Parts: sequence; C-alpha cells; structure tokens
Amino acid sequence: MRALIFIALSIFASTSYAQQQEALKKLSSIMASPELTQEAYIAGEDRITLCGYCHGKDGNSTRSHIPNLAEQTPVYLFTAFEKFASGERNDFVMSKAATMLSLDDRVNIALFYGMQKVKQKEAVDPSLHDLGETKFTQICSACHGTNGEGNDDMPRLAGQPAEYVRQTLTLFRAGGEHRPGSLMIPIAKQLSDADINALASYVQGLNP
Ligand code: HEC
Ligand code: HEC
Repeated sequence: MRALIFIALSIFASTSYAQQQEALKKLSSIMASPELTQEAYIAGEDRITLCGYCHGKDGNSTRSHIPNLAEQTPVYLFTAFEKFASGERNDFVMSKAATMLSLDDRVNIALFYGMQKVKQKEAVDPSLHDLGETKFTQICSACHGTNGEGNDDMPRLAGQPAEYVRQTLTLFRAGGEHRPGSLMIPIAKQLSDADINALASYVQGLNP
C-alpha cells in the first residue's frame, strides 16, 4: 500500500507541503531502523549513476564548484531536492534533475549520500586560518555547528570545496537570487571579500 502511494505521488513533478511532511516522517522512521536504512541505502545507490559524475559516487565532488554530498545531513539533502523541484532554489542542472526523482528516490538518495564519508582536505591557505576561525566562531558556528558538522536542516560545511563556499557566499551577498528568502542572505551581507575568502579556506579544512 505504501509503495502504491509513493508511486502515485511520484507522478506529480512538484509535491504538496503535506506530501513533503509525509516523506520527511518516512525519512526519520527509516533512519530509526537499521534494516530499513540498509534497504534505502541500496535503493539510493542504484539511482545515483548520473549524480556521481558531478558529486562523486562516494559524495566527494569531482569539481571545486560542486558541493560534496557525503556526510551531509539527510534532512538538508532531502529538503534541497524539494527546493530545486519547486523552484524555491535554482540551478540549471539541479532544477531539472530534481524533478526527475520520485519522492522515494529523494529519501533513499538523501540517506545514501548522508552515510558516505568526506575525504579530508587541507585549508586552502593556512595564513587565512585565524581570520577564518574568528569569523566562523563569531557568526557561523551557532547554526552550522562548532566544527561545521551541521544538524538536520542546518547544512554541514566541513570539507566543502572552498570554491563552492566562496561562490555560494558571494551569491547570497549579492541578494541570493538562486535561493530567494534564504536565511543566509542577511548573514552574507555582513561579510567582506577577505572574510569570504578566509571562511571558504577555513571551512574546507574543517574535520569534525
Ligand atoms: C552536471 C553536474 C551535476 C549533476 C549531474 C548533478 N548535480 Fe547536484 N549539484 C550540482 C551543482 C553545481 C550544485 C550546486 C548548485 C547551487 O549552487 O545551488 C548541486 C547541488 C546539489 C544539491 C544541494 C547540495 C547543497 O550542499 O546545497 C544536492 C542535494 C544535489 N545537487 C544532488 C544531486 C543528485 C541527487 C543528483 C543526481 C540525480 C545530482 N545532484 C546531479 C551539479 C550537479
Ligand atoms: C541563523 C543560522 C545560520 C547562520 C548564523 C549561518 N548560516 Fe549558513 N546556512 C543556514 C541555513 C539554514 C542554510 C541552508 C539555507 C538555504 O538552503 O538557503 C545555510 C546555508 C549555507 C551555505 C550553503 C551550504 C550548501 O551546502 O549549499 C553556506 C556556504 C553557508 N551557509 C555558510 C555560512 C557561513 C560561512 C556562515 C557564517 C558567516 C553562516 N553560514 C552562518 C543557516 C545559518
């Protein structure tokens, strides 16, 4: 019966609020059960062939302007698909990719990628460490975690490629047209170019 409901839901490219809440509940009940998590992991792995070209099969991105998905919080990953599919978040590739995934796919892929491990990288420039650390501790850690580990809908930042972080913060500062209404827009407006470079370098080297 459940499977039937999800097949029916997946016919609609964009899902209602109630359906999203239902899927989020499903996500947390899967996460609470080792057997269901294992099933979802296998089902997710089956659906990431295309994604792997950009985000890596193990969730470590293949290019510096593409985010890692490894160890990202499953709730954030799932919510990101919903935002791309609904138009709340815009990206040329991702907006199309998200509408091709059923609700089940989104749940399974979020779990699969969330369970991968980030490959540790160095900070880009050690001389930016102190400024990066100061700004991160003052402004960012309250939401993104002391070491950028994230939590539920607060994304993990630790180990994200510096170039992705730099570009993303710069877009938020410019008004966030790619993610209208994001909490990050007013926060990024306080940052100078030097702050953004230091934060991007620092975050890439974080290893919670
Ligand atoms: C051609 C490259 C490409 C492919 C293929 C691709 N992505 Fe992406 N993806 C990106 C880029 C670039 C971004 C960053 C977009 C932005 O700046 O908002 C992104 C963002 C994301 C995000 C948000 C991550 C975050 O940290 O906010 C998720 C989740 C995601 N992709 C999942 C997927 C999945 C699942 C697939 C396969 C169905 C996929 N992507 C296929 C390039 C790609
Ligand atoms: C009030 C809580 C809050 C604070 C403080 C905050 N963030 Fe965020 N941040 C968020 C949320 C929530 C998101 C996801 C929002 C979205 O999708 O637009 C996010 C998204 C991001 C992203 C995009 C992540 C991705 O994977 O695409 C980056 C980069 C980021 N924040 C960096 C920072 C930095 C650097 C600071 C400190 C200067 C900071 N944030 C402070 C809540 C916060």
